[in-house]
Amino acid sequence: LSLVVLISGGGSNLRALLDAASDAEFPARILAVGADRDAEGLAHAEEFGIPTFTVPYTSFGSRDEWGEALLEQIRVWDADVVVLSGLMRLLPASVVSALSPNLINTHPAYLPEFPGAHAVRDAIAAGATESGASIIVVDNGVDTGSIIVQERVPVAPGDTEHSLHERIKPVERRLLVQTVLDIANGLDLRTI
Ligand code: GRF
Repeated sequence: LSLVVLISGGGSNLRALLDAASDAEFPARILAVGADRDAEGLAHAEEFGIPTFTVPYTSFGSRDEWGEALLEQIRVWDADVVVLSGLMRLLPASVVSALSPNLINTHPAYLPEFPGAHAVRDAIAAGATESGASIIVVDNGVDTGSIIVQERVPVAPGDTEHSLHERIKPVERRLLVQTVLDIANGLDLRTI
């Protein structure tokens, strides 16, 4: 199974995929890593000698123009699946429909709880006693796609956004690697 992974930040989830895929037995390989900005996480891909590309959102006049440029870069690799792993931008509908259903996303909450870009902060603000991690198939909504797998993560008293996120991320990483494995072993994203 071939992947393109898209990030915006530190890429700890990407790192988990890179580590897993570096095992010759792992049935998936990462062809390239892309970002919407000069993301720190691109360094992880460079460490593994994997090509990277950057399509800076701020270089384009509109989300649609950015999306088309991003799609053009993604298509170069002709990957089986595109993985959004901490991409902090909504993809235009044209990009989602071009890639669907082979487009998955990891989200640090137990969807449909706490969708959107501030899921961990929102869980803390809501006084939630548990949150979670979810891997979904991307659709045109904000984190509204079909849930492939998800798992509860407890919120500890006194948790901050950071401490809760740090507890969620290892779960996200495990679910993301497992999902890639499942897809490589036949999970059909059209049936989710
Ligand atoms: C992850 O929790 C992801 O779900 C969210 O942002 C975080 C990215 O972390 N969208 P990293 O860049 O993988 O470390």
